[in-house]
Amino acid sequence: MTRAVIVGAGSEIPPCLVTNAMISRLMDTSDEWIRARSGVEQRYFVEPGTGSSDLGVAAARRALEQAGVAPEEIDLVVFATMTPDHFFPGSGGLLQAKLGLRHVPCFDIRQQCVGFLYGLQLADAHVRAGLAKTVLLVGAEVHSGFMPWSAANWEYLYGRSDVPPTPEEWEWNTRFRHLTVLFGDGGAAVVLKASADGGRGLIDHELHTNGADYEKLYVPGTGFKRRPYVDPEQIRKGEHIPVMDGRYVFKMATTHMIECAQVILKRNGLGVGDLSMVLMHQANKRINEYCQKVRGLPDSKVVHNIERYGNTTAGTIPLLWDEVRRDGRVKPGELVLMVAFGAGMNWGATLLRA
Ligand code: ACO
Repeated sequence: MTRAVIVGAGSEIPPCLVTNAMISRLMDTSDEWIRARSGVEQRYFVEPGTGSSDLGVAAARRALEQAGVAPEEIDLVVFATMTPDHFFPGSGGLLQAKLGLRHVPCFDIRQQCVGFLYGLQLADAHVRAGLAKTVLLVGAEVHSGFMPWSAANWEYLYGRSDVPPTPEEWEWNTRFRHLTVLFGDGGAAVVLKASADGGRGLIDHELHTNGADYEKLYVPGTGFKRRPYVDPEQIRKGEHIPVMDGRYVFKMATTHMIECAQVILKRNGLGVGDLSMVLMHQANKRINEYCQKVRGLPDSKVVHNIERYGNTTAGTIPLLWDEVRRDGRVKPGELVLMVAFGAGMNWGATLLRA
């Protein structure tokens, strides 16, 4: 049976490092609170003018190089992001042009933190159906555009100015603190190739959506049921910033990540003992530690990078994949489970042989 095999990966981490201590200069928060509640210690941001397509391009170049695949060989692009460069068109076509790819189909998918897993199923389906042989799948985010800080606040954050936030700015920034401290910018890409050898590759997918809960984590403004779709009043009210019911999302994430991991393993006659590694979406270290404990996974089979990058939404799982493949923690032929939950609400799991 023809399967899609991940033959190369690459990442791009932007240059502007922001520690928890730095972020505490803009709002009422602390390194202790952020570390204890989320596991995040630092994150990286792009400079203004860099989009998710740029992070995707840099990551894709590394992935193509590692795979030994020429850009002309790519016959399908899937770009997963909730923070595209423009409202439309999506970032996939921008990446295609910047990489000099042929005029191949480019999908833009918006499943937020589960975007990469949705992208894997889409890539796999094309390969199995014979519609594509070599696929480039990217997960990249520039969350810094969501940060509610003024331009002067950004300068103060980086220590480029001595002007601290005004009391009004401090209060405004603090209003969004439960959300803003969690996220960072970053992206990663993988190249998948059709293979008939039957050993390695994507084995199975278990994807779900529950749109009824969309208001638990969403952007209330800047949408086309508004007229105009964005205006100063929406910005003044902060409706361009996501709202999140953190406790509810936490509860749903643990419930559904555990559940879909169980379902996919059972369907394939496997137990956690058969897995070499479980790569979980990096939204909150406490979510993943809870899932790890319930599933009885030893530390050696779980990997985190939220402490370094924060939540990079569609980027977290390919970033982890790139790390564990490069440093040899996952070797060719080993079984890996990827699990994610995020806004939408979407959740899912992917089983593959590296
Ligand atoms: N610094 C200091 N205090 C804070 C901060 C902060 N950054 N944020 C919130 N607090 C305060 C709250 O105001 C609250 O104060 P109060 O008790 O006086 O009212 C207190 O800390 C506790 O707040 P909780 O919301 O109960 O804190 P919790 O332990 O639940 O942690 C968090 C909040 C980190 C958001 C957690 O709920 C979480 O991670 N949820 C899941 C997030 C997630 O998975 N998102 C999905 C992925 S994103 C995507 O899909 C795009």
